[in-house]
Amino acid sequence: MADTDFDLIVIGSGPGGYVAAIRAAQLGLKTACVESRETLGGTCLNVGCIPSKALLHASELFEEANHGTLAKWGVNVGKVSLDLDAMHAGRREAVDGLTGGIEFLFKKNKVEWLKGHAKFTGKDAILVAGKSYRARNYVIATGSSVTPLKGVEIDQERIVDSTGALELAKVPGHLVVIGGGVIGLELGSVWRRLGAKVTVVEFLDQILPGMDGEVRKDAARIFKKQGFEIRTSTKVTGAVAGKKGVTLTVEPAKGGDAETIEADMVLVSIGRRPNTNGLDLDKAGIKTNKQGQIEVDHDFRTGVAGIYAIGDVTPGPMLAHKAEDEGIAVAEILAGQIGIVNHEVIPSVVYTYPEIAAVGKTEEEAKAEGHEVKTGKFPMLANSRAKTNRDTDGFVKVVADARTDRVLGVHIIASVAGTMIAQAAQAMEFGATSEDIAYTCHAHPSHSEALKEAAMAVTGKPIHI
Ligand code: FAD
Ligand code: NAI
Repeated sequence: MADTDFDLIVIGSGPGGYVAAIRAAQLGLKTACVESRETLGGTCLNVGCIPSKALLHASELFEEANHGTLAKWGVNVGKVSLDLDAMHAGRREAVDGLTGGIEFLFKKNKVEWLKGHAKFTGKDAILVAGKSYRARNYVIATGSSVTPLKGVEIDQERIVDSTGALELAKVPGHLVVIGGGVIGLELGSVWRRLGAKVTVVEFLDQILPGMDGEVRKDAARIFKKQGFEIRTSTKVTGAVAGKKGVTLTVEPAKGGDAETIEADMVLVSIGRRPNTNGLDLDKAGIKTNKQGQIEVDHDFRTGVAGIYAIGDVTPGPMLAHKAEDEGIAVAEILAGQIGIVNHEVIPSVVYTYPEIAAVGKTEEEAKAEGHEVKTGKFPMLANSRAKTNRDTDGFVKVVADARTDRVLGVHIIASVAGTMIAQAAQAMEFGATSEDIAYTCHAHPSHSEALKEAAMAVTGKPIHI
């Protein structure tokens, strides 16, 4: 083997790529990972999950102190003021710590970082920074980036994408968010808590597509109560950025009279698209589908021998933990082991307040697939811990198969829904019935008891309502 030869080259160091590289090295494969960014960790650690959660956490603390919530508990903090620079420094510290941590793990596990942009020169060779490398196997984990919107040019000054929205130097007076999905609601929440008026313009008739119908409805009610203005069934047809702000032109999604909205800043968050540009996939013989994704089989094979793909660049939910689990599985397959990801059980969490979490099928999906379903719902208002903590917005909903009682999906709006959903995912992974969850002893007083009671409600027997 020449110096430049590896058992495995992973392209991209996001949660899919870096995890695949580390696991492969742990299993004895000579592994390299190509990354063109200055730091490792991909979208997630650099400009995604981590910095957004840092700002969500910090802005939640600010809102609690600023809106008198603490005073209601007898905690008086005096006049509250915002030091946005310090908040951004906290965000950067979180990112630096975690991206540096991946570099440390690469060194510890002897994964070689090939710095630069990779492109295929054939089925078994790539070029990085002018140098050619070969490997027995490749894993493409190049992730995704922001989907642009025609007529609304992102300048990262007045019209920003999620990366720009993480770095605003001051709180905008009026922020218009285009797209009522996960990014729009999370980053919209950050800037609303810090003082911005936030208007969400959503093309569809409801926010949060893909979520359970009852969740979408209740989430919209809660966000409106918090002060979000939500304009559904509305499309943006153009944006003109000036020195002072942006004039957006909108019209009904189905067509109709146009009107304008004046904004200080605009966030474009209408989805993400796979990164395949500049990879020269054609030289490796790999084709992309209509969405630009690389299709793979159950074992992450692309159809070209020795080339695999995982994470956001492939079909499925664009989530860090989905990419990570695929990274572990593909490395185990390449090391001759069995690697499996159960794509039926991938939890998702929207880190707003309250949090919104889901795993498995929505009631609508289950019915559309022909299941006869039974559902059980339990409001957080009747959960003793939520009531004590005064965080009573939301509910837990369990969707079960009416014939077998097997849990098909769990949907939660609650302050700690992101933590609660882990139990539901594990139960589903073990093939639980709603009865299994209902008869599992849950600690009291805890928000998780609401999941137990929702499971009890599937057969009509909750205690506390
Ligand atoms: P990525 O993380 O996108 O990494 C791909 C890497 O490959 C990049 O670093 C890129 O520079 C590199 N690359 C691309 N092409 C090449 C090339 N040719 N040569 C060399 N390097 C290349 N998901 C969650 O689960 N939870 C969250 O809370 C969450 N929050 C998010 C918040 C925001 C604002 C955004 C934008 C996304 C968020 N996501 C979240 C989604 C999550 O970031 C992605 O699903 C995840 O990062 C996908 O991982 P990946 O490994 O497939 O790709
Ligand atoms: P998204 O797919 O969640 O939401 C995009 C929204 O924009 C949808 O509601 C869609 O109907 C709407 N839309 C599309 N075109 C539009 C138009 N022209 N005008 C108005 N609305 C339009 O995408 P988003 O929020 O950009 O996030 C991208 C991905 O990043 C998500 O798929 C998610 O998987 C991931 N992510 C995950 C997070 C988490 O797990 N907490 C946090 C942030 C992002």
